[in-house]
Amino acid sequence: MTTVRAEPATALSGTVAVPPDKSITHRALLLAAVSGREVTVDRPLDSADTAATLGAVRACGVDAEGALGDRVLIRGRGLRGLRPPPAVDCQNAGTLMRLLPGLLVGQGGHHVVLDGDDSLRRRPMRRVARPLRAMGAEVFTAPGGTPPLVVVPGRPLRGVRQDLEVASAQVKSAILLAALFAEGETWVHEPAPSRDHTERMLTAAGVEVLRAPDGAVGIRGPVAGIDLPDLRVPGDPSSAAFHLVAGVLRAGPEVRLTGVNLNPARTGLLRVLARMGARVAVEPGPDVAGEPAGDLVVRRAGTLQATEVAPEEVPALIDELPLVGLLGALAAGTTVVRGAQELRVKESDRIATVVGALRALGVRAEEREDGFAVTGAPRLRGGAVDAGGDHRLAMLGAVAGLVSDEGVTVTGFDAAAVSYPGFAADVAAIGGRIG
Ligand code: S3P
Repeated sequence: MTTVRAEPATALSGTVAVPPDKSITHRALLLAAVSGREVTVDRPLDSADTAATLGAVRACGVDAEGALGDRVLIRGRGLRGLRPPPAVDCQNAGTLMRLLPGLLVGQGGHHVVLDGDDSLRRRPMRRVARPLRAMGAEVFTAPGGTPPLVVVPGRPLRGVRQDLEVASAQVKSAILLAALFAEGETWVHEPAPSRDHTERMLTAAGVEVLRAPDGAVGIRGPVAGIDLPDLRVPGDPSSAAFHLVAGVLRAGPEVRLTGVNLNPARTGLLRVLARMGARVAVEPGPDVAGEPAGDLVVRRAGTLQATEVAPEEVPALIDELPLVGLLGALAAGTTVVRGAQELRVKESDRIATVVGALRALGVRAEEREDGFAVTGAPRLRGGAVDAGGDHRLAMLGAVAGLVSDEGVTVTGFDAAAVSYPGFAADVAAIGGRIG
């Protein structure tokens, strides 16, 4: 475990080429594996999470050449051509553990045990097992509804309508993937729209994605095969968010973030920042992998105004809510996040860990069952934060250090490598010091 110190920064400036999108990398590797052709994935994210997915794909008998971070050529084995292994180690990757069963249920072979690290072993998996079982699949969790997950491939599947209680792109994706193998129409309805990368990628791969007037998405199965075109992975808005917030608070004169995925299902933080009085210019560029993309140019804001994040906004900034807490700590008034109980079942209980981290830095913050309330002050003192194995907490602590008076010591900073191994180097490129 590494401990670093993030020093107060006076003026951050320069350009960060934002690392590739984690959600899209997971999906590209998984869908390429079941394509009927060779697929080149250009610029897949090189991180612990996506390495777990590439490992899982290879463990399913798929030939993959090249390296994450550069280019990976995947020789797709066709929609029903995977050779499921007895066990898959998903490590810390919730997206892998929840999406892979959607493909495994349509294969042949023996049962597969999906397991992961201590953090993943605490996360709820019934939300995937139940809907897949409703389609006829055999998918089981441990008694508490947690991993390991056991998937028995090869059961006949039928399309059903599923109404999700919480918006979850991972659960929606698992169902849509299983729908490729199911007889008839499968529909998924969410209380608010979650990220739609799976739908976009399936469309690009030649699958008709159905849409109902009530917002439900559907697939008519079974599908004969999919044909994912070669693709390049756009930059991850959830990784960009750390520099975005650092820039809003400390840019001088400006921080440019290039090649960011601007899918509206991912850019809720931009809308919240605009309300708070931040100055962020969006410069749209050409679409990348069927996703809108472009640059963000960030200038330092005057005094930010507190805001309220409403439940329906939450899915579009779910992974950025820890940063909203930090913004609230330096805004005038009390910033409140509501309807975000999902944060309790992320890589850590992010309601407890974010509030705990902010308090440790001298901030007035309180836990709510479904979110938090943070009362701002003109300055942030600093102190020490323990990442507790959560990558986004590690990077939150570091950004807090950059915008604090005394700096922040982050214990367990190495967790950042789960999604953003080059984070400290990119912060250094715009003049921040983490060492
Ligand atoms: C993800 C969806 C979100 C998000 C996670 C990645 C995805 O989780 O928090 O980091 O790639 O689909 P949920 O689907 O549980 O909301």
